[in-house]
Amino acid sequence: MQNYSYNNPEALKSLIDPARVHRDVYVREEIFKLEMERIWGQAWIYVGHESQVRSAGDYLTTTIGLTPVIMVRDMNGRDINVLVNRCGHRGAQVCEARNGRADGIFKCPYHGWTYRTDGALRSQPSPAGYRDVGFDAGATDFGMPRVARTGQYRGFVFASLSATGPDLADFLGDMRETIDNMVDRAPEGAVEVTGKTCHRFRHPVNWKFFTENLHDAMHPMVAHAGTSDAVRQYKEQLAPDHDPLPEAEVIAPFGGSYDFFDEMGFVGLPHGHGYMGGGISIFSHYQVYPDYLEAMEQAYGRERTEEILSFNRHNGLIYPSCTIRDNIQSVRVVIPVSVNETIIESWTFRLKGAPPNMLERTLRYSRLINSPASMVGPDDLDCYIRIQESAEAGAIEWIDMHRHYGREQRDGDKVRATGTSDMVLRNQYAAWLEYIT
Ligand SMILES: [Fe+2]
Repeated sequence: MQNYSYNNPEALKSLIDPARVHRDVYVREEIFKLEMERIWGQAWIYVGHESQVRSAGDYLTTTIGLTPVIMVRDMNGRDINVLVNRCGHRGAQVCEARNGRADGIFKCPYHGWTYRTDGALRSQPSPAGYRDVGFDAGATDFGMPRVARTGQYRGFVFASLSATGPDLADFLGDMRETIDNMVDRAPEGAVEVTGKTCHRFRHPVNWKFFTENLHDAMHPMVAHAGTSDAVRQYKEQLAPDHDPLPEAEVIAPFGGSYDFFDEMGFVGLPHGHGYMGGGISIFSHYQVYPDYLEAMEQAYGRERTEEILSFNRHNGLIYPSCTIRDNIQSVRVVIPVSVNETIIESWTFRLKGAPPNMLERTLRYSRLINSPASMVGPDDLDCYIRIQESAEAGAIEWIDMHRHYGREQRDGDKVRATGTSDMVLRNQYAAWLEYIT
């Protein structure tokens, strides 16, 4: 471990080589704190979807970096507020439940101060004690403050702890198309979160291993080989006229060849965002259910339907906080807890106006790929833990990302690379450095 402090930009720049990352990036508490302040405290962070707070007073709790927040539908029924989840009195966390309905009031469990859904202080027990003592009940500090900025894009709610920086539309940039495609895949042009909760998958590792894995196309055929081999063998045993189980179409692409992932390609975007595919992806060979196709063609016409369904991106990353699989209506959310602990939430969405078989497939995907008991996610976690432990032990000093270094092509503000290029990592670290220095 380097024995100096990362208190200046030059020291921080020395962590990225530029095709290697120093292990301190994953194990140093000091770096984690800087990330919380300068990345998670600056960027637009995904908070939730409007369908989770449909009615006045509906709320959910989460964090932005380490800051606890409540996303709540205001009692006016119109606004969605994102408030810091802490009492203005002594600072206790006010709301503990993951979600619920506030009936217009949040009440601190310590001394009973209450707040309105816009965060304003509503009441304190025995208020006479605060009269003529220099206490200003209207001051923002004594309320539950709103985070600096809140924005929505087609029902997806983001918030930023920073009052400055790009607006949400500019921040999302080309990733808006991924969100558009997810919503456009609904015959009624809207999506909604299913159920009140999600798969929560605790990862005892640094948060960046998850974002780095999203476009790492050199690992599926190795790390997930056991599962994909089993699916291949199973399909080979089937009689020619026998349809494989629906699980097979979900798992099989995880054993795709190097050529397949190279052809898929990677597109890196400003702010660390990126996606694989565009033309082909792991979803290219999914069957199209006739009743879904009919509903889509009725809503959009044949040509537009074809356009929507041929949009094949994989793992759209909105760095650093979430990744969207528009084709399968799944959103995974990154929740950093400490330098070596991260929660990954996996939310499933329903396409409004689509037949039930589409939601069944989304749930099947989530169960087989994303859940803590799935056939794919735990393989990845096992690999992250191996790196985390090596980095903590000092068994490795620099973590490599040289593959196809310098072979990427600039295309305006995008960068294009073959699917197995480590550009998928270097693009995130370009943004990381920009934020942190
Ligand atoms: Fe994987």
